[in-house]
Amino acid sequence: MTAFDDAVPARPRAPARRPAPRQAAPLPWLKPGVFIGALAPLASIALRASRDELGANPIAQVENELGLTALILLVASLACTPARRLLGWTWPTRVRRELGLFAFFYASLHVFTYLVPDQGLDWGVIVEDVTRRPFITVGFLAFVLLVPLAFTSTAASIRRLGYRRWNRLHQLAYLAAVLAVVHFIWRVKIDVSQPLIYASVLGALLLVRVAVWARQRSARREERRPGASGPATSR
Ligand code: HEM
Repeated sequence: MTAFDDAVPARPRAPARRPAPRQAAPLPWLKPGVFIGALAPLASIALRASRDELGANPIAQVENELGLTALILLVASLACTPARRLLGWTWPTRVRRELGLFAFFYASLHVFTYLVPDQGLDWGVIVEDVTRRPFITVGFLAFVLLVPLAFTSTAASIRRLGYRRWNRLHQLAYLAAVLAVVHFIWRVKIDVSQPLIYASVLGALLLVRVAVWARQRSARREERRPGASGPATSR
């Protein structure tokens, strides 16, 4: 209806046939957008490598950028559920899995860069690094934790494990992120301002998680209380 409808002489109208409401695909660009956005850091590395613009130590540069991108995507995937709970947004949960898988993808490339171009697959040095250098040990543990999460990210895995068990397993993503932040802090040694930003964001996300968990626990207790009127309201 326009603002001028009143001025239009009345015309006999055919019985109004309402068009069926169009079920537009909700945010159809969301997943492709995340896909392209998540590949942008890799494209940037490839482009700079092809132009020899990766600085004096290109291997360390690539290794660091891949590690940092993995951490950013991991934290982003962990921010999806708190965003839904705090802001009521539902769209982040639809890209949570994609973000988590991209985090794993970048972490794998980061580890590959360490193993092959950096250490030349010298297993003696690698084993010594993993066992003797605490910053490498925690990075290794973070990566080990990410592996089962990536391999059980499918709907079939949720069905196989049951939602409760699957959910509990996937809470390990927080532990992996904490270890990755410690890895980052121990790696930079002196100026820890950048890793501390990630530590604070992660701390805030964990606080939301703990607050939600505590609220749900007290709601469940309330439900079980003798004489309670029924299930507790809004979560
Ligand atoms: C086997 C597992 C891992 C190994 C061996 C490893 C190794 C390394 C090494 C050697 C560096 C320093 C590179 C350099 O300065 O030359 C580094 C940096 C880093 N790694 Fe890892 N890493 C592992 C897992 C991870 C994981 C799982 C994450 C994140 C999810 C991660 C995130 C980072 C970050 C954020 C940096 C510092 C980036 C910067 O300084 O800008 N790493 N890692």
